[in-house]
Amino acid sequence: MLRRYLNFVRGVGADWVGRLGISLTTAAFLVFLFLELMRILGVLTNAYVGLVTYLLLPALFVLGLLLVPLGWRRARRRFGLSSRELAEARFGRSAMRPGLAGASVFGVIALLTGINLVFLGGGTARMLHFMDQPRFCGTACHGVMIPEWTTYQASPHAHVHCVECHVGEGFRALVDSKISGLRQLVSVTFDLHERPIPTPVRELRPARETCERCHWPDRFYGDRIKTWVRHEPDSASTPRYTTLALKIGSGRGAGGEIHWHVAAGNEVRYASVDDERREMAWVELRLADGGARRFVNRRVRADAGRAAEVRVLDCVDCHNRATHIYEDPERGVDERLARGELDRSLPGIKAAALAAVLPLYADAAAAERGVATGLRAAYARERPDILISRAEDLDRAAAVLQAMHRRNVHHAMRVGWNSYPDHRGHADGGGCFRCHDADLRDETGAAVPHDCTLCHSILAQDSPLPFEYLSPAAADDPERLHREALRREFLERTP
Ligand code: HEC
Ligand code: HEC
Ligand code: HEC
Ligand code: HEC
Ligand code: HEC
Repeated sequence: MLRRYLNFVRGVGADWVGRLGISLTTAAFLVFLFLELMRILGVLTNAYVGLVTYLLLPALFVLGLLLVPLGWRRARRRFGLSSRELAEARFGRSAMRPGLAGASVFGVIALLTGINLVFLGGGTARMLHFMDQPRFCGTACHGVMIPEWTTYQASPHAHVHCVECHVGEGFRALVDSKISGLRQLVSVTFDLHERPIPTPVRELRPARETCERCHWPDRFYGDRIKTWVRHEPDSASTPRYTTLALKIGSGRGAGGEIHWHVAAGNEVRYASVDDERREMAWVELRLADGGARRFVNRRVRADAGRAAEVRVLDCVDCHNRATHIYEDPERGVDERLARGELDRSLPGIKAAALAAVLPLYADAAAAERGVATGLRAAYARERPDILISRAEDLDRAAAVLQAMHRRNVHHAMRVGWNSYPDHRGHADGGGCFRCHDADLRDETGAAVPHDCTLCHSILAQDSPLPFEYLSPAAADDPERLHREALRREFLERTP
């Protein structure tokens, strides 16, 4: 068998070009087998090795195959022979003599072609599978995706593949994504991409096709009670609580539910003035009877947004940070204090921690050093005794803050604190308030509703207790009526 193969190979490599082709193909095939074995054994997981295995080697393999007929043609020209004459010269007459199933050369050619097709087919399937792995998407492009890869790994979707949100299902989605992938490959290779990567991401699959494979809008659950702890910049880092009962709902209830926007039959469309979708020109509510109600932004010129894209609001207009969740520095420190990762018994730790993480450092190494020295410098100013008496606790705190900085700030991609907005709430008048705003009015003059109890009940706001407003109010409390209503709603469940 091997002898027959070698004979064939010797015959088919008609000149040096053909022989080069055969060596290339054979070498690519053997190296592929070796690397694939290593990957199956778990020795190799690196994304670059994957790029070599699944892109470079198959390309060399095909190139080698193409060189064979090229060499054949060159030889025919040189000796002035027909294909048949050349074949007889190279393989010997006996191999060309028709046997039971045609000439034996053709049998070998058919067999090898079959093997090639199986190999290329299998290789392509492995390649597509491999390119769907989050590790590939996250690490193959010289750190371009490091911010997203880092935040992804710390998110509730850490086990959802990138492609499940970014590509979606079906052949069309696959082709689109490979074309866009090629474009990205070019822009990474020639360093044409922007830093940070701009959002919104326009190629994202419609959320209705992706998110809804796992989350059903009509299964969205009543209220979600959420508490934020903010610590004062005082010596005790005193905690203050804000608690909301967010009216998520399914949008099928009596009204006043957040997921109403995506409930069956409802459609909200909008045109934004800017590419970032931060300021709306108009917002339109499509009604079940086919009519529409349009709210126009009085702050912007009447023709603004005419050229802008019109978009149907979906999950990612609110959950744009569903996975790539970057922390606000103050929130990040507060959460670590609340979870006990940062030791609140260190006097003034809140203020000192913020002073350490906020400055703009030149690069990752400078940040690593700067955060640690920044923390100590803050104590050197305010409480130099702590530097000695609590040295180990300070080291631990510095390590926690360095990790927090690494997670959120990515110098190479110019991702700093709060580079990306989060549309879920209404920080700085963005998020929900892009539409729920007194300046967006329909032709009767009615605005998109925006009162403070539309989306949440406020159970505490910067209060000493997490459920402050549910405790009985004093008789002279100006908020007494409001608090009694909250007590009835949340403690007694009576309207
Ligand atoms: C659960 C869904 C989901 C998963 C899983 C996911 N993403 Fe995203 N990704 C999003 C959404 C939503 C956005 C924000 C779109 C916007 O703002 O328009 C986004 C934005 C991005 C951006 C633009 C920059 C940014 O930070 O907003 C990049 C790059 C990106 N994703 C890469 C990845 C990579 C790489 C992975 C896998 C390691 C991944 N994504 C996994 C949903 C997802
Ligand atoms: C392959 C399944 C899958 C897909 C696709 C998916 N998710 Fe999730 N999602 C999950 C899982 C699992 C959790 C974690 C639930 C938990 O830990 O309680 C989750 C959690 C969430 C949460 C709650 C996070 C929190 O604060 O607790 C939100 C919001 C969310 N997903 C939004 C989205 C959005 C928006 C998309 C589309 C861009 C999406 N998901 C796509 C599976 C998925
Ligand atoms: C109008 C804005 C908006 C839209 C549109 C929206 N959501 Fe939400 N969603 C919210 C808010 C606000 C919360 C409250 C929870 C929070 O703050 O984390 C929430 C909560 C959730 C949760 C967590 C529920 C829980 O009990 O913890 C999931 C999962 C979720 N949304 C998925 C989706 C999916 C999937 C879609 C699209 C079909 C969607 N959302 C559309 C605003 C929205
Ligand atoms: C693109 C514009 C837009 C954005 C962004 C938006 N909404 Fe709305 N929302 C609307 C419109 C339009 C209505 C319908 C107003 C009406 O009925 O008068 C609405 C209605 C609502 C309602 C009442 C639903 C009902 O059952 O009647 C709630 C609650 C709500 N939104 C919460 C939110 C929250 C929370 C966010 C941010 C996380 C948000 N919205 C973001 C446009 C928007
Ligand atoms: C259109 C819906 C909507 C309206 C109207 C609204 N909020 Fe909110 N608000 C939210 C959502 C959603 C969040 C939660 C954000 C998150 O989960 O991160 C929030 C968060 C908050 C928070 C806590 C988070 C923070 O940033 O400190 C406070 C306090 C708050 N809202 C106060 C108010 C007040 C006061 C008003 C009236 C002026 C108001 N809200 C009107 C949707 C709304």
